[in-house]
Amino acid sequence: MSPSSHAAAATDLLEQVRSGGHVPRHVAIIMDGNGRWARERLLPRPFGHRSGMKAVREVVQGALAAGVAHLSLFAFSNENWQRPHAEVSALMALLEEYIAREVDELADRGVRVRVLGELDRLAPSALAAVQLVESRTAHNGALTLNLFISYGARRELVSAMRAMARDVAAGRLTPEAIDEGEVGRRLLTRDMPDPDLLIRTSGEQRISNFLLWQLAYTEIYISPVFWPDFGREELFEAIRDYQRRERRFGKVSPQGA
Ligand code: IPE
Ligand code: IPE
Ligand code: MG
Repeated sequence: MSPSSHAAAATDLLEQVRSGGHVPRHVAIIMDGNGRWARERLLPRPFGHRSGMKAVREVVQGALAAGVAHLSLFAFSNENWQRPHAEVSALMALLEEYIAREVDELADRGVRVRVLGELDRLAPSALAAVQLVESRTAHNGALTLNLFISYGARRELVSAMRAMARDVAAGRLTPEAIDEGEVGRRLLTRDMPDPDLLIRTSGEQRISNFLLWQLAYTEIYISPVFWPDFGREELFEAIRDYQRRERRFGKVSPQGA
């Protein structure tokens, strides 16, 4: 397809999303396939990560246009620290570059950026970039962009459990008072709704330690496309698919089955 016919297809899909019913309030994405995208082109893996930045731009614009309130992107997992040093460095450099390049536009478009994860593992320059984008965009409200970096759900849950144990030991909490709300309030996602839709790119069918608690009733959409090739059209297609589903939350269909 030519660039103009891509744009026309995206506009058409956006119309369908807007008229197709409920738009997911919170979309979470496991951005996967950068390495394979590069390998297909006989390029080193960091080239795939660099191309992935364009896809981030695309989905942010798409989420804004569709009226999604929260967009959560899994950018770097706790386990990803075990990749070769050169790849980890390239990814961290790209995080800083992404923030430097996009901060003005994100601020102008009303996007609030939050970076969630074990940020004490970041280099000082990366941490400074994170603090800059968070403070520059803190008052925005059109879309909240949650970037999960140095994040793993099991460790997030362990921290929450430890915090509750501390509260019990200090007499601030009784074991009987521990419920889903108490757990949820101790997670990084405490002030956002659970994801309605989880997208994973590159055809992989696993969660890879992302938001284990929060995804309990999330609709899952697997796209075969490698992350660098994912764009607005693919996002709108995923939302259209979501809009055709029936979420039952363990109950029976209201139509009766
Ligand atoms: C996703 O692409 C980016 C990160 C996990 C940081 P990958 O780097 O996992 O790409 P593949 O899965 O090897 O193709
Ligand atoms: C999941 O992708 C993590 C991110 C997208 C940041 P991985 O490529 O690291 O996951 P696995 O190894 O395929 O499970
Ligand atoms: Mg991968």
